[in-house]
Amino acid sequence: MTAINAVTDLSLDGEVAVLTLNSPPVNALSLTVREGLFEGFKQALASSARAILLICDGPTFIAGADISNLADMLKDPSIEDIQKLMDGADRPVVAAIHGTALGGGLEIALCANFRVAVPSAKLGLPEVNLGLLPGAGGTQRLPRALGPQKALEMITSGKPMRAPEALALGLVDELAAEDALRADALTFARKVLAEARPLVRLRNREDKVAAFRGKPELFEAFRASTAKNFRGQLAPGWIVECVEAAVEKPFEDGLALEKQRFFQAAMSPQSAARRYYFFAERNAQKVPGAPAETAARKIARVGVIGAGAMGGGIAMNFANIGVPVTIIEMKPEALAHGLSVIRGNYERSRGARPEETEKRMSLLQGSLDMADLKDCDLVIEAVFENLEVKKQVFGKLDQACKPGAVLASNTSFLNLNEIAAATGRPQDVIGLHFFSPAQVMPLLEIVRGDKTSPETLATAIELGKRIRKTTVISRVGPGFIANRVASPRLAEINSFLLEGLPPARVDKVLYEFGFPMGPFAMLDLVGLDVIADPPGQETIRSRMVAAGRRGQKGGGGFYDYDAQRNPQPSPAADSIIEDFRAAAGAAIKEVSDEEILERSLYLEVNEGAKVLEEGIAIRASDIDVAMINGYGWPVDHGGPMYYADQIGLDKVVAKLKEFELKYGPQYRPAPRLERLAAEGQKFTAKP
Ligand code: 3HC
Repeated sequence: MTAINAVTDLSLDGEVAVLTLNSPPVNALSLTVREGLFEGFKQALASSARAILLICDGPTFIAGADISNLADMLKDPSIEDIQKLMDGADRPVVAAIHGTALGGGLEIALCANFRVAVPSAKLGLPEVNLGLLPGAGGTQRLPRALGPQKALEMITSGKPMRAPEALALGLVDELAAEDALRADALTFARKVLAEARPLVRLRNREDKVAAFRGKPELFEAFRASTAKNFRGQLAPGWIVECVEAAVEKPFEDGLALEKQRFFQAAMSPQSAARRYYFFAERNAQKVPGAPAETAARKIARVGVIGAGAMGGGIAMNFANIGVPVTIIEMKPEALAHGLSVIRGNYERSRGARPEETEKRMSLLQGSLDMADLKDCDLVIEAVFENLEVKKQVFGKLDQACKPGAVLASNTSFLNLNEIAAATGRPQDVIGLHFFSPAQVMPLLEIVRGDKTSPETLATAIELGKRIRKTTVISRVGPGFIANRVASPRLAEINSFLLEGLPPARVDKVLYEFGFPMGPFAMLDLVGLDVIADPPGQETIRSRMVAAGRRGQKGGGGFYDYDAQRNPQPSPAADSIIEDFRAAAGAAIKEVSDEEILERSLYLEVNEGAKVLEEGIAIRASDIDVAMINGYGWPVDHGGPMYYADQIGLDKVVAKLKEFELKYGPQYRPAPRLERLAAEGQKFTAKP
């Protein structure tokens, strides 16, 4: 075995040169990795070997370009330099794939003449998630392997394909045994030599693309659907353009177009924000001071207290991954109703198969007796928000649950430490704050009480991964992170109305910024009756509720709704707003769209600074992860804290001061924000 460099080895196994890459954690294509591969292929080609096998050590094949340092891609050798060696090879090159072959990793594998993969391997071009398009020939070679339709589906969705499907579609040539990839890939390489199989070079393959030449319909359809499904994103349209070039133009021309678009995308603020978010999401799992090796407890059976919308949604998360759940209610009717709502949710979910629904429902067991929680490893309380009630429930849980069970509360604003104090085991108590509907919303806030043990915390983090939620860790404080940061913006919409701004105008500004909907449409969706106003304060929202307007679910809200739930202007809502404004003696103000946006977003930035100052959030990027997953903050802007950094904190502070004078103390800049601005610092570090 010869070491090519720190991460690459070359060895000879009979007639086959084996080039092995080992660059933890995911064999990303850093400069060192590219140097190793380039030099490794050169030496293998200069050797007497009759075939070359590329294989990786560690948990995965190459997972793509090194996105922590994309600028480094400009240094030689480039991925293309490696691919040229592979394309020009005079002997078979075989890629042996396990784990994930993603992005530049798959693009390298596509230059091999043959691909062998273990059944659990996944192959994909997920660049679109990072605001990018494949930049090493993926848009040109994949259509030549799969045809443009399948290639477009795969590249615009970013979803990886499993090896058995890749085998069926011809993207993989043979499946290897799960635990014998190297041996099976070597056998395959020898078979190729023995049979003198012709070397497949995707760049020269025409059959799959020729059929679509001169037929723009497919591309027009994809252009229309990407414009709709990826509102405001640059990369998806460029992907369609490049795949069309793969069909219509010579390989080299398509490659040149792809390169140009890739670098345009890589330089875009959108992609920078998405790459920032990629690392933010992963960092949110890390707890400073907690040993990384803290063992999570095993969670094989879960209990949920409360079969309401929240409890039911929470239970679904576990049934979906095959974990049995005991649901506790006080009355048989409530239990039966809760279980029937869950069944209805399953039956209505897209592509639901009856046997799947039955399988999941069979994992849910209802009970009226807390004693039935005795075997549960985790119990999540989801009763209504009242501290005394929750304390009572936790007192009972303390009696009913086995030692070591994790006792969790789904409270969204109560003091977890007080809840924990109702038990004799506060170290096992934690907050698991799901967002409604709990079976759909991606965010899970993990709330760490003063006495929560590292082991309980590690268990919650691990559990979040298992149920495929994006987790953020919060300390105890009113509203934790997401609801707290969103609250001043939502409170300010009453002022917008008093200033005479129509709801539809405010909603349009925030929609165009990238939110899935504006604040008024969101309130209508959530229900105007579920939000509490500050005590003793009457708002336009509470007037609406008093007039029977509870939102989409009943009577309309800020909008009226047609049978398809499309919002329509509402004269009734407008007159409630106008009456309220006139009675309050509020003067109509001229407010520009820019100011609507700044006031909305900077209030969140400011609250985020307070959440950081108080130590509720560990780091600014955790706030961004919470807002993106809990409140639909557009990931193309990276979340409120990252966004403020891009604007410049000094500019944000200056605006807040201006708004404070004009509109009131709710805009007073937070000390942490002012300090960072004065020091010329940022909230978030560069990835
Ligand atoms: N570059 C740099 N670091 C990467 C990376 C990448 N492409 N992919 C993952 N990492 C890092 C993560 O940040 C993490 O670091 P940490 O331990 O310090 O937090 C570590 O690798 C492990 O990653 P995960 O925690 O995500 O581990 P999982 O096992 O859950 O997932 C994975 C592994 C499926 C590979 C997942 O990390 C992933 O999807 N990575 C991104 C893949 C991707 O987007 N590839 C395309 C890149 S762009 C490209 O290739 C351009 C090309 O066309 C030219």
